[in-house]
Amino acid sequence: MTTGIADDPDRAPARSHLYAMGMTEEDMRRPAVGIASTWTGTMPCNLTHRELAAHVATGVRRAGGTPMEFNTIAVSDNLTMGTPGMRASLVSREVIADSIELMGRAHQFDAMVCIVGCDKTVPAAIMALARLDVPAVVLYSGSMMPGRWRGRDVTIQDMWEALGERAVGRLNQDEVDDLARHACPGAGTCAAQYTANTMGGVADFLGLAPFGTGDIPAVADGKNAAAERAGEIAMAALARDARPSRILTEASLYNAIVSVAAMGGSTNAVLHLLAIAREAGVPLRIDEIGDVCRKVPIITGLKPSGPHTAADLWRAGGTALVARRLLEAGLLREDVTLVDGRTLAEVAADAVEAPGQRVVTSVAAPVKPPGALAILRGSLAPDGCVLKLGGRPDFRFEGPARVFDSEEECFAAIQRGGVMAGDVVIVRYEGPAGGPGMREMLSITGALVGQGLGDSVALVTDGRFSGVSHGLVIGHVAPEAFHGGPIALVRDGDTVVVDTAARTLDLVVGEEELARRRAAWRRPDRPVERGVLSRYVASVGSASDGAVTV
Ligand code: FES
Repeated sequence: MTTGIADDPDRAPARSHLYAMGMTEEDMRRPAVGIASTWTGTMPCNLTHRELAAHVATGVRRAGGTPMEFNTIAVSDNLTMGTPGMRASLVSREVIADSIELMGRAHQFDAMVCIVGCDKTVPAAIMALARLDVPAVVLYSGSMMPGRWRGRDVTIQDMWEALGERAVGRLNQDEVDDLARHACPGAGTCAAQYTANTMGGVADFLGLAPFGTGDIPAVADGKNAAAERAGEIAMAALARDARPSRILTEASLYNAIVSVAAMGGSTNAVLHLLAIAREAGVPLRIDEIGDVCRKVPIITGLKPSGPHTAADLWRAGGTALVARRLLEAGLLREDVTLVDGRTLAEVAADAVEAPGQRVVTSVAAPVKPPGALAILRGSLAPDGCVLKLGGRPDFRFEGPARVFDSEEECFAAIQRGGVMAGDVVIVRYEGPAGGPGMREMLSITGALVGQGLGDSVALVTDGRFSGVSHGLVIGHVAPEAFHGGPIALVRDGDTVVVDTAARTLDLVVGEEELARRRAAWRRPDRPVERGVLSRYVASVGSASDGAVTV
């Protein structure tokens, strides 16, 4: 507890409030462990957090600490997708990080446990812990189980792609509504290797989350026991002084990037890894993420690039089994500190592989070759952008630009059949400052895939993508249109070339013509933002640096 609070005569007023909560002086003399949950009753993703927090508290008490619970916000990507509400999503990462940091600073916890689930909550908690630098555990609350529909496992990905199938007459509205009743059977995060589960794996490989706790699904037996264990681990980490500054290192960031590459993770991981590295004071350039992806094959067959769900990965052996395979191939750095005191070799040895499992393969016999994500640069993205390559062989795609100044305009055009195979769809003014909030373009990618255009139309945006998105999708184009980046100068019919072998994204327009367009460019009129969005527009940086606020 805050130094001396139990015995300092001048802290009697503070003690009075602790007595009011039922504490004894003995409780006040024990280490105080802050338990941050990101519970909200607005979405299934974090619905179990209050129950988990109670179990973490049990573990803390058992290990001799005094738990102090609090919670902060979370924004559902799925519920806000395709609406103005999605502008709040990435912004929430900063608000969650700031709020956890403030609680830590205010109450001076000796150690912390952060319970995280939905996408932004994971990097946000890690960013806050990097700032606070007290011994801390991240507990990932776990994935949703898949739904069942027409005899197959379904996830939220099927839901979004159903809208595209409806547009071309393969499904009718009654069928879409029926799928909606079956796709999401209960609490937990979106049920495959989308952003939340990608970041849950990142927390493991960074060393802040104990391997074997996060991949237990939200409603599975064993989750509550894992939460109690997380409370005990936090106390043990305090005894060992296992602070984030010892855990979040260049080596652990490297391992986290390897995990994203090996499990075919979400493009959002690029933003979040850059932001975490910045908070940890570890130099990391966006191109380094691409370099790692170039040499690490995809060794799990998880949706959206494979057939399996997060629950399948858990049954197969979880992220610990992935760690074993990567370690066997020499792809992980072993000079890392894990919060539970084990070494990576011990984690790998402890992994329990289900007999006959087919979810996790090996580096020698991968599911797909190297290239989960690729970082491209070129005249259309001088500061970089992210392609979800998904282990495809290198390709060249050249086509005419179809330019839209918002997600809504583009979605409407696709729904009325206005986008053709071979087009390069440009969606701009959706960047961190321009959106504002860098919305995810899932309504567009879902519509394209549902209409069978996922591999024949390239989508290029200064916005970002849901982990559910797949197809020829290139996001995070920087500089963004709002700041006059080249993407603001593209016109309908311009030729755009994607060359994955060269890692380039180019606009084929002469320099003189581009200079004319640049001179004539004016930022489009937009309603003036108020409140948090106004502050965000003023302070957010480039996607190539993690879209962090300064
Ligand atoms: Fe919360 Fe997908 S919307 S995890």
